[in-house]
Amino acid sequence: MHPENPQAIYRKDYHQPDFFIESIDLHFSLDEDVTLVHSQMVIRPRTTNQTVPLVLQGESLVLKNLKLNGQVLNTHDYQVDKIHLTIPTVPTQSFTLETIVEIKPQENTALTGLYKSSGNYCTQCEAEGFRRITYFLDRPDVMARYTTTIVADKNRYPVLLSNGNRVEYGELTDGRHWVKWADPFPKPSYLFALVAGNLHCHGGKFVTRSGREVRLEIWVEPQNHDQCEHALQSLAKAMRWDEERFGLEYDLDIYMIVAVSDFNMGAMENKGLNVFNAKFVLCRPDTATDDDYENIEAVIAHEYFHNWTGNRVTCRDWFQLTLKEGLTVFRDQSFTEEMTSAAVKRIQDVRILRTSQFAEDQSPMAHPIRPESYIEMNNFYTVTVYNKGAEVIRLYQTLLGKDGFRRGMDLYFQRHDGQAVTCDDFRAAMADANKMDLSQFERWYDQAGTPVVDVLGTYNALEKTYSLTLRQQIPANLQAWHIPIAVGLLGKNGQDLPLQLATETNSNRTCIIELREVEQTVTFVNIPEAPIPSLLRHFSAPIKLNFSRQREELAFLMAHDSDPFNRWEAGQQLAQQVIFDLLADWQADKPLQLDPLFSNAVLKILQDTQLEGSIKALMLTLPTEGFLGQQQAEVAVEGLFTVRQFVLQQLAQDHYTQWLTIYKANHHTPYSNEASAIACRRLKNVALHYLCRLDTAETTALAEQQFTQSDNMTDQQSALSCLVNTTGTAKTIALTRFYTQWKENPLVLDKWFSVQAMSYLPDTFENVQALLQHSDFNLKNPNRARSLLAVFSQNQAQFHRADGLAYQLQADIVLQLNTLNPQIASRFVSVFNHWRRFDPARQALMQTQLTRIIQHPDLSKDVYEVVSKSLN
Ligand code: ARG
Ligand code: ZN
Repeated sequence: MHPENPQAIYRKDYHQPDFFIESIDLHFSLDEDVTLVHSQMVIRPRTTNQTVPLVLQGESLVLKNLKLNGQVLNTHDYQVDKIHLTIPTVPTQSFTLETIVEIKPQENTALTGLYKSSGNYCTQCEAEGFRRITYFLDRPDVMARYTTTIVADKNRYPVLLSNGNRVEYGELTDGRHWVKWADPFPKPSYLFALVAGNLHCHGGKFVTRSGREVRLEIWVEPQNHDQCEHALQSLAKAMRWDEERFGLEYDLDIYMIVAVSDFNMGAMENKGLNVFNAKFVLCRPDTATDDDYENIEAVIAHEYFHNWTGNRVTCRDWFQLTLKEGLTVFRDQSFTEEMTSAAVKRIQDVRILRTSQFAEDQSPMAHPIRPESYIEMNNFYTVTVYNKGAEVIRLYQTLLGKDGFRRGMDLYFQRHDGQAVTCDDFRAAMADANKMDLSQFERWYDQAGTPVVDVLGTYNALEKTYSLTLRQQIPANLQAWHIPIAVGLLGKNGQDLPLQLATETNSNRTCIIELREVEQTVTFVNIPEAPIPSLLRHFSAPIKLNFSRQREELAFLMAHDSDPFNRWEAGQQLAQQVIFDLLADWQADKPLQLDPLFSNAVLKILQDTQLEGSIKALMLTLPTEGFLGQQQAEVAVEGLFTVRQFVLQQLAQDHYTQWLTIYKANHHTPYSNEASAIACRRLKNVALHYLCRLDTAETTALAEQQFTQSDNMTDQQSALSCLVNTTGTAKTIALTRFYTQWKENPLVLDKWFSVQAMSYLPDTFENVQALLQHSDFNLKNPNRARSLLAVFSQNQAQFHRADGLAYQLQADIVLQLNTLNPQIASRFVSVFNHWRRFDPARQALMQTQLTRIIQHPDLSKDVYEVVSKSLN
């Protein structure tokens, strides 16, 4: 139990700050023992007649000196506790406050505030890390102008960076040097950054559409100098795209990105100085997969897009996080859709939403995209705030059209540039720019949970009409959502029928139904034959839609729907039906037999020569055990595993020659980063995975050959993950070889750990235990910890083994991380959030671990919040 019983903070309690900080002049003296941070602030009371104390936040700081308007304050004039500096009486007019504090970045394993990574200094301040650097009003609605001077040893730390422009620099006589940076844009403290180290610069430039030249710099550890070009190109592409799509131009003369090896999240949009997890910067064909390349482009774009959606217009308070994150994720998704393939990207994004976010909605941590309360803000950087938040932004675009959405964005910037605002301000801009009533739309921000819509269709042959009745299931205390549902109707030949609503004169192939009521019926006229409806095209809303269908109908849509998303979706639904029916057979001890209708539908996809390769690869991939488990009242761990393995095995056997043909047809495409070459690799590797299910000498030889001969990481990793599931000696040989080849490259070595954690063989848990003892395993490095443990916890059948040993191990790790790095600990403990969805025996085992964790004497707020909600 937590000794201080951490208190929740509520959205409804928001108050304006009593003081604003106009400017802060920071001076860092970086030293191996203690780092001194000297700060000089100009502070302005919000009103001149107030007599309120000044309460600054500060954590793990040692206060050395405190001056108000140049006068040293004596200890009666202020109070310091673990998290505050309070000065009861301050002037009623603007005043200056000067502090000197000591910190020890080299001991900071939480990786928030100022810390060291691979010998270099770096910072992470979002959400509330700045208070671990100096005393401040550490809240986003306090926006200050920053100047930052960094002093450090010149040999060890030749590069000294902060936000804005480098305005002065010089050398001291003792081997140290200094640089002063000035950021002309007022910003909240969470956007502050500092980097000092021995770094290599990969530079470039970008000319904005108004003709200004911007210097681009990617900073990396020297040995990574040859892995920066893709990141640089991605940045330039993102900059261009934001100009073209949203009319948004960059606003400083320099844009820097620093790659660091120890980072809690993906990346951080600090003004002019992004700090990135190296995973989202570094790549080379032989070290990074196609997915890595795509993720790098997306994350670089995401952080760049924050410059407008997040930095120029920021959040009033942390409850508004989705204002910047949902919007920026939507922007990066749209960017990737245009850079790659809209359908493929949409399918990938919906997969993430459904497997992670829908699961979060079913858990005790469920929250609206704009949460009502939190104990630890870092726990709310969630798939709900980010990915469901992005879906909600997409809803505006679906309802208002692309042009209408752009009008709303333009008005949003026109009204709020330079301000800290709320989700309501954004919604108002969308509504006002389009003269549309979006009041019901607020429920997407207020209400947690995944809406469920039941649909019924009726064809009237006499009238030649087709009606759809849509009904929202509204949980107690909630109200109907405003949901756009994209619909098409297929004729018997598989073509889209022209759609004309009874109220319309013109026709369309896809029509958006705006569902606002609990129940609504729409009728299409002039429908010549009983159609097959295609519902929720392109996944037009983040909901679950129920419409009961025969397998034949799903197979038909899988073969013909003009909406590629729904073609994929029909295949997934068909697979799911087949798997659940087999599960019932398995549970009744009946022999398993794969429905030939499904096997044939898969064959048709395999043989479809029109279908784009990446989509085809996705269509040949079954829903995961995790996703299937979510659809059940009680997750059938062993049953789902067994049945899914059976289906994969059966498909491998049924279409052996076709898999082999596909494999060979796509195997010799030379490496390039073009969409067509990527598609070949995706297709070939799906085929290889099916083939290797057969675990024969021939199939293993194929994988071995690919493993040894490949010139790119996509193929090498894929072959390795096939070999890891084989039972002969090939597995050990490949693992050893991969390790020897890549032991000096941490990002590639992460893959070595992950591939083993993902194995479906029964000794996976024992392997993971052994890998924890490996000399290259390091719990303090988040990427390494995740590569083994977070990946393993997603391996449903192995992690949820019936003896509960994996649960115990996970809890041990959580308790270690609780002291080292609470943010990562809290992520790791979250796998237990779903404990009530399992059978009684597993529930008891997980509950035991949760109870053990919550009884720990020094639990962080992070872990406390998640576990206490879970046990409630
Ligand atoms: N704003 C960052 C982004 O681009 C994420 C920062 C997350 N930080 C945290 N402490 N949770 O999404
Ligand atoms: Zn973000």
